[in-house]
Amino acid sequence: MNYGLKKVRKCVVPAAGLGTRFLPATKSVPKELLPIVDTPTLQLIVGEAKHAGIEDVILITARGKSSMVDHFDLSPELEEVLASRGKVAERDALRAISMMARLVSIRQHEPLGLGHAVLQAAGVVGDEPFAVILGDDIIDCDERPGIAQLVDCYERTGKGVVALMEVPWEETSKYGIAAGTMIDERTMRIDRMVEKPKKDPPSNLAVIGRYVLPGRIFGYLRDVKPGVGGEIQLTDALAMLAAEGNLVGYRLRGRRYDAGDRLGYLKANFAFALKRPELREGLIPWIKEMIAEVERGAR
Ligand code: G1P
Repeated sequence: MNYGLKKVRKCVVPAAGLGTRFLPATKSVPKELLPIVDTPTLQLIVGEAKHAGIEDVILITARGKSSMVDHFDLSPELEEVLASRGKVAERDALRAISMMARLVSIRQHEPLGLGHAVLQAAGVVGDEPFAVILGDDIIDCDERPGIAQLVDCYERTGKGVVALMEVPWEETSKYGIAAGTMIDERTMRIDRMVEKPKKDPPSNLAVIGRYVLPGRIFGYLRDVKPGVGGEIQLTDALAMLAAEGNLVGYRLRGRRYDAGDRLGYLKANFAFALKRPELREGLIPWIKEMIAEVERGAR
């Protein structure tokens, strides 16, 4: 722990996307409220932030998505019904959701990119280090949740940190890609960042949706010109921070699911269900039966 550093107390969660890949489910339900088993992905993220000692969550939202904020409010009617049925533990679990974090929500009026979404939080974050979590990337690590690993790395190095994971070379064009010099087994000093390289990726280390950034990234976000897809890219502002020598990458421990993709979302559901003894028992024999049926050609 570097005691001269400011603590990471705030977390920005960009959640203004339309969720078109999950239509029709996302026609009236925000993608971030789709559940992994029974818990909305947004709640998993807020839980992850809380675990890392973060007190304030700044949700970047859009029109038609106010149910995300409602999810973190109290629900006295529902609590009363549960209590009257003797379901006290369930009632307490529901109430605990509203105490997970202080939530601030800010509208991103136009979908101008991830960098633009993060920039909306500038006034609330001010000049302090803050975390960013993208809900599409679910990190499953029992040892230490994803964003907590990054906060640890920030406290060790005093620099901005992005989460990295190796991806197959043919998939590098889907991600922000970082290259640089390894400082230790997991930490890399970043020299180059490229958003979704069409050719010649500088490495196969992809940026996974977790960041700890200094407040001055907002200045860079104001300066960057529209990049890939005509959008204000967070990666382009990160490249400026890297050029200053103030950005490291941390190869995350744990398994990652791309919940923004239908297959990744399904895998996350199975993986989280298999962790729960009450579901595992019924799920494993059923999965085996289904596989056998598919292999027999009966499906
Ligand atoms: C965003 C970032 C990209 C990062 C990715 C991780 O892209 O721009 O750098 O690698 O998230 O999921 P998106 O997936 O929103 O297009």
